[in-house]
Amino acid sequence: MEIKTAEFVKSSAVFKELPPPNYPEYGFVGRSNVGKSSLINRLCNRKSLAKTSSTPGKTQLINHFVIDESWYMADLPGYGYARVSKKKREGFSGMILDYVTKRENLLTVFVLVDSRIKPQKIDLEFIEFLGVQGVPFTIVFTKIDKPTQKEYSQNQRAFKQALRAQWEELPPMMHTSSITGKGVPALLDYIEATNPLFTR
Ligand code: GTP
Ligand code: MG
Repeated sequence: MEIKTAEFVKSSAVFKELPPPNYPEYGFVGRSNVGKSSLINRLCNRKSLAKTSSTPGKTQLINHFVIDESWYMADLPGYGYARVSKKKREGFSGMILDYVTKRENLLTVFVLVDSRIKPQKIDLEFIEFLGVQGVPFTIVFTKIDKPTQKEYSQNQRAFKQALRAQWEELPPMMHTSSITGKGVPALLDYIEATNPLFTR
């Protein structure tokens, strides 16, 4: 699948401001700076559709994009950003929790995980929360252009091991680089295969 058009719809600060749930939707969630906005841009083949930044915590709102006039991508604020208030840091913002549990047109949450580093508690907690709530999700390892082969496989092994403590069967996993584009066609194919618009 190739995306032909991608347009910004709106930014929402709270659940009730979200655009009407009239299209199938994929949400991009993960720690601050993991590469959510960059991946959305790369998937859409657009340089600056979603705002990216080397300063974590850039996206504090949920940004919706309509793709090919028929489905949504939602760029969520990052979690685990140390500069937000202490209280907020303890958990996930109400907006993220509301979004993943209440957004009725949400097909899959893409949980982005930094492939360069060891498994992070906050990612595992978020994944566990999705599991408990029964929210469908797929893990997307990002920035695969960065780690050495050795680091990459070590981190993968450790992450899978940590997941096995929670899950009998491992959830679906994808691997991407928004710099080289590696894994991006596979992710688009995955979206195509799971979006009822295309499989009907
Ligand atoms: P927040 O909105 O702040 O939560 O961040 P985000 O998850 O949207 O991350 P963003 O896409 O803004 O990227 C953060 C930084 O990582 C930027 O400096 C990007 O250039 C860089 N980055 C994103 N994806 C990749 C990647 O695949 N490879 C490498 N090497 N860098 C990346
Ligand atoms: Mg962002």
